[in-house]
Amino acid sequence: ASTLGAAAAQSGRYFGTAIASGKLGDSAYTTIAGREFDMVTAENEMKIDATEPNRGQFNFTAGDRVYNWAVQNGKRVRGHTLAWHSQQPGWMQQLSGSTLRQAMINHINGVMGHYKGKIYAWDVVNEAYADGNSGGRRDSNLQRTGNDWIEVAFRTARAADPAAKLCYNDYNIDNWSWAKTQGVYNMVRDFKARGVPIDCVGLQSHFNSNSPYNSNYRTTIQSFAALGVDVQITELDIQGGSATTYANVVNDCLAVPRCTGITVWGVRDTDSWLGSGAAALLFDGNGNKKAAYTAVLNALNGG
Ligand code: G3I
Repeated sequence: ASTLGAAAAQSGRYFGTAIASGKLGDSAYTTIAGREFDMVTAENEMKIDATEPNRGQFNFTAGDRVYNWAVQNGKRVRGHTLAWHSQQPGWMQQLSGSTLRQAMINHINGVMGHYKGKIYAWDVVNEAYADGNSGGRRDSNLQRTGNDWIEVAFRTARAADPAAKLCYNDYNIDNWSWAKTQGVYNMVRDFKARGVPIDCVGLQSHFNSNSPYNSNYRTTIQSFAALGVDVQITELDIQGGSATTYANVVNDCLAVPRCTGITVWGVRDTDSWLGSGAAALLFDGNGNKKAAYTAVLNALNGG
């Protein structure tokens, strides 16, 4: 196959990208994105600050722009993200305790209700585990509402849209030897054991010199999958753009049947949150395919 999406589809997987609504008027951008990818994540437009700028007043203008572009171009959509310590609107940052807990529940119901039946998978909870060696939860206003906030979010989400896969999404949980990975693994195992609804784990996979790709990535994917959840690579970028590393990531996913898809976190290097100097994506600023693109396509095509 000659595009990333079509190549991934040969094994029943998808290949996606993050889309920024502000770039949908850039025809160079939409030409590449429209051609290559078959899954879309809104880079910022479905986050809490974007969708509920005032308490109880939802705004789906930008989110719908991304959603409609995706669907009109034959792509599915991942929802990102419903409960997160970051990119909270000011009103939510002020809340605590049972008021915040209820606001989180209302937010999940409001956003998932709007997109009910339309989203392939939601990142229900994002980045709830701490960096470093504790293997425990990140301190946040949501965490301070009680340790059960994550399972409440997932139960709320299941009821709000039973058709969507429900994912836990985080960074630095790709290296199997890291405490953070083990912390999330233990949570998912516990959720599966107790019947808390969870369908997938999102490995963000932002690789750089501090958190480089490690050959135990495949073990991480296999280990989560063995718990009975899908694994999705949700925000892939590799500082420096190594073609070899990109191929390794793809091959690790292809090696595990329950690794169901890969999303890169932007289209061209100039679109990356890391800045174009990081050269972390598959297309350069002029829209040319990089060596990393060819490596990914070849891997998806079976080597
Ligand atoms: O829209 C405003 C614009 O009006 C303003 O002039 C400008 C000035 O700074 O800011 C613009 O908002 C920025 C927004 O991106 C849109 O470009 C925010 O400041 C900036 O913080 C925001 O960054 C996003 C970041 O999440 C915020 O946490 C990145 O685009 C986005 O790529 C990044 O994505 C996250 C995932 O959601 C979760 N995992 C990590 C990943 C990378 O950080």
